[in-house]
Amino acid sequence: MKPQRIITALSLLMGVYTTPLAAQQPLNFTVKAGEIKTPVSPNMWGIFFEDINLSADGGIYAELVKNRSFEFSTPLMGWSVPRNAVASGQIVVVNRQEDHPSNPRFARITMPAIRSFEIVNEGFRGMGIKSGEQYNFSLYARQQEGAAVKLTVTLLDDAGKEIGSTTVSPAGSSWQQYKASFTAAATASKGKLKVTFSGNGVIDVDMISLFPQHTWKERSNGLRTDLVQLLADLHPGFLRFPGGCIVEGRELVNRYQWKKTVGDVNDRELIINRWNNEFPHRATPDYFQSFGLGFFEYFQLSEDIGASPLPILNCGMACQFNSGEVVAVNELDPYIQDALDLIEFANGDVTSKWGALRAKMGHPAPFNLKMMGVGNEQWGPQYVERYTIFAKAIKSKYPDIKLINSLGPGPDGDRFTFLNDTLRKLNADILDEHYYSSPEWFLSNAARYDSYDRKGPKIFAGEYAAHSKGVGNGDNKNNWQSALAEAAFMTGLERNTDVVVMASYAPLLAHVDGWQWTPDLIWFDNLRSYGTPNYYVQKLYANNKGTAVVPMLKGNQVISGQDSVYASTVVDDATGELVIKLVNTSATVKPVAVAVQGVKSIAANGKLTALRSNDLQGLNSLDRPTGISPEEKDINIKGKTIRTDIAPWSFYVIRAKINK
Ligand code: AHR
Repeated sequence: MKPQRIITALSLLMGVYTTPLAAQQPLNFTVKAGEIKTPVSPNMWGIFFEDINLSADGGIYAELVKNRSFEFSTPLMGWSVPRNAVASGQIVVVNRQEDHPSNPRFARITMPAIRSFEIVNEGFRGMGIKSGEQYNFSLYARQQEGAAVKLTVTLLDDAGKEIGSTTVSPAGSSWQQYKASFTAAATASKGKLKVTFSGNGVIDVDMISLFPQHTWKERSNGLRTDLVQLLADLHPGFLRFPGGCIVEGRELVNRYQWKKTVGDVNDRELIINRWNNEFPHRATPDYFQSFGLGFFEYFQLSEDIGASPLPILNCGMACQFNSGEVVAVNELDPYIQDALDLIEFANGDVTSKWGALRAKMGHPAPFNLKMMGVGNEQWGPQYVERYTIFAKAIKSKYPDIKLINSLGPGPDGDRFTFLNDTLRKLNADILDEHYYSSPEWFLSNAARYDSYDRKGPKIFAGEYAAHSKGVGNGDNKNNWQSALAEAAFMTGLERNTDVVVMASYAPLLAHVDGWQWTPDLIWFDNLRSYGTPNYYVQKLYANNKGTAVVPMLKGNQVISGQDSVYASTVVDDATGELVIKLVNTSATVKPVAVAVQGVKSIAANGKLTALRSNDLQGLNSLDRPTGISPEEKDINIKGKTIRTDIAPWSFYVIRAKINK
């Protein structure tokens, strides 16, 4: 082995790198800081939210009770009831479909002969409970004639020990909501909720709910603070919601219908989650959508984290991978009306029907909706046929709303080419490209947009992630190799932000005990959460997005994989800085010298943020959440040339003040 290789190998083993014996010639790059190539799209780096992997119920939506309204296909799923301990008829689930179609079932508890009766909810893979925190219990209840039944509500820890308790005494024979709060005496990651009924008679109960008091912005019906904070830290340019295939449904009956997700939570009709039975190897029979996190909450979340809302609507087509069911074209009107009404819900005056509902829900000010997706991963002429009708109706009423079109599930092939050609001829606004592919694909496609048509529609890289083992493979990991490949690829997105105006990694969230799809950007259990290395790549891009792209070249070529280095540069007018991104995908150190043209001077002190690992298989985890995370240091700059040695397998962001 040559001496230099021995040193490199040793340094990788030791987790540090040392200067090679014989200094390598630097790679000479040029940045033309005075030549603005294009402004950076203001929404450039966003996030994609879909209720997959228990992202909503059991995830960011802070409700702790699973199947709170007994509407799962198996009505008592998630509840254990003492079926054989007492005479029959102690608990029945009553269906009043005609009276209350959006929430037909409730539980009736009869206690003629015994003094108490218990039901226990297991939560979503248990309940995460924190010592010293307040928990808010609520339910709807009514006593039947002559009944006087009281409830004792008890939190149990992982071992079944009581860690908090309160009582509720419903009164009266009409449905009413009752609330009670208590403080947890201990922490539990897999707690449970026990409801003990005592007294005599018959009581009806529904919407049995438990939330932590401490949610994002302390809202009732709120969201988990740690998960929202991780999203907020990304400073995302947009929030795409609610998906994803969930928009389409496996069949049309289970498509996402936003109108059923707004208004009183008690009246939001639960449906199966399409990821419940998508993957036999990760079947999740208890996965349903309560829509407690519905469209109002998505808009509110977007606003909270400074992201432009980007709803994706069903266009009359169910998932083509599953059923391929489409609505007859002459019955498309309700779908189009949903889109028009959504714009009114988001932006309409409070005197309009849907604007009034938004105001009633607590947000009289508009949500400033500017764009909307028509369909998710649709393909074929049937999509074009339906999209064309949608576009005509929306554009004639709301000409300023930008529409996002599907280009199908993949970035090439017949389906892609057909839609790409057709939608360009139709002057579409923004085309949604998806790529779930190998790390190698990401590296070899980093220059994909360098030669894209500048005059046609813009591109939304709406779903992407490097899959080391293949799409749908449960062994895909959020390892450093995948994150590094994405970082390299993203230099090409950034360099071409005149064409690629938005990009979002997908999917966003995954429960470690309840996932169906991997990789995912953020993982969590009932108490903890962490960002993957891929999360930190996204964060570094979004937090260093700058305001304008400037040319960065090696000779007269863009830097996209020559010598295993990928690079792009932006200027940040707000801070007067040059922001250089450098990615080294090789196992060797890469010395670089970046000559900056078009500036009078560069400050002698810059900042270098490095995201790196010596192990391409390296991961973060709940126990080691920031193992691979950015580290910042000062760098010295002499004259107008920035020099650094890019460590093996590294992503660097350099910020330096410039004087133009
Ligand atoms: O991100 C997971 C799924 O991948 C999305 O639901 C779908 O749009 C894509 O196929």
